[in-house]
Amino acid sequence: MGMLIKNGNVVMVEDGKIRKMDVLIDKGIIVEISPEINRSDVEVIDIEGKFLIPGLIDMHVHFRDPGYTHKEDIHSGSNAALAGGFTGVLMMPNTDPPPDNATVIYYWKEKSKSIPLNILFSGCITKNRAGKELSKFYELKEAGAVAITDDGNWVADGAVFRHAMEYAAALDLLVITHAEEPTIANRGVINEGYWSTVLGLRGIPKAAENIAIYRDIEIAKMTGAKLHVAHLSTAEGVRLVAAAKKLGLKVTAEVTPHHLVLTDEALAGYDTNLKVNPPLREAEEQKALLKGLLEGVIDVIATDHAPHASYEKNVEFNDAPFGIEGLETAFPVLYTELVLKKKITLEKLLLKMTVNPAKILQLPKQGDIKKGNYANLTVIDPKLTLKVSEELLVGKSKNNPFLGRTLTGWPVMTIYQGIVAYQRILKGVQ
Ligand code: NCD
Ligand code: ZN
Ligand code: ZN
Repeated sequence: MGMLIKNGNVVMVEDGKIRKMDVLIDKGIIVEISPEINRSDVEVIDIEGKFLIPGLIDMHVHFRDPGYTHKEDIHSGSNAALAGGFTGVLMMPNTDPPPDNATVIYYWKEKSKSIPLNILFSGCITKNRAGKELSKFYELKEAGAVAITDDGNWVADGAVFRHAMEYAAALDLLVITHAEEPTIANRGVINEGYWSTVLGLRGIPKAAENIAIYRDIEIAKMTGAKLHVAHLSTAEGVRLVAAAKKLGLKVTAEVTPHHLVLTDEALAGYDTNLKVNPPLREAEEQKALLKGLLEGVIDVIATDHAPHASYEKNVEFNDAPFGIEGLETAFPVLYTELVLKKKITLEKLLLKMTVNPAKILQLPKQGDIKKGNYANLTVIDPKLTLKVSEELLVGKSKNNPFLGRTLTGWPVMTIYQGIVAYQRILKGVQ
């Protein structure tokens, strides 16, 4: 059965326009977009006063399945994604066992096949993510992996990474790098600077990230492989990516909502929900990240949704694991802190969360609201203001750095291929 969505403020991202339109869906595809469509033979949903945006695509999530399903699993992670307005996610491979061969990919495929979300798979660069021996790229690609990464670790051995990039180039596989030179990071726990000194915590210098990015870009230059820099956090990183793009290299980059909105000053209370890798940096770095985003150096906003259980986070700062969960709050955080404060337009924000990730991951018929595309759509209520609480979060873990904040612009409905996959139920006042 079809569906007619009426009176939405439709954001057509590539056109850079927001127009009041009706959208008709048939068999999971957008078949018509015009100012007035009237049909009585299909389900009609009136979304007057709300935005209709393309389903968000997050190219960096940790669903912890298999191996760490007390933190999250494919089902709970998918529920969090849908509640956050996402219709596509790329799962990272730091699971146990990790996907260094096709077996885990087959398990993921089987477990995700009935979930109304486009779940994409990444494979490991090296066996057991140990950085020594290459994993089975061809087999991973055949099984359905769209990218390879050792996220959580940088492939420190230059010869191994060079060979990985050569094979990846031959197979047209995207390589995602977690850029952090480990001997310079040297077991630090927050950004090295004023706050690490004041708080007496071991610092992670920005140089650890910059050196890693520099090496990776040089190897991209040697091999012609497609390199995507995950969770960029430094001004120098932005400069290096800009220079690589200028040379015409196939280099892309992402930034997380937490690096755009929080700085290391927030660590003054030793809150382990703010302990993340790469660490939150100073305001100058943040400014450069936002500038890089606006100027097109940074292509994508990705959450790096990294759930950890409360008993794992509620320990001494040095012992807590790195990682922040963020699928459910990503859009309202960015809408409240960037769009409403006029630091970025809604259209541009969405370019980084829909069109660009779809392009980088080569996803056909997705990423924008267009005739012929899949009806992957999210309804945003720009007036809805909610306080972030543990009860509001539907994922298994609650390590969200925005707990207690009041945010505006929440997803209220997520449609996946023409089917309502999520609908927000508002308790109380509304
Ligand atoms: C991630 C995790 O917990 O898996 N942690 C993090 O702080 N970002 C790993 C990663 O993305 O590097
Ligand atoms: Zn990482
Ligand atoms: Zn990650």
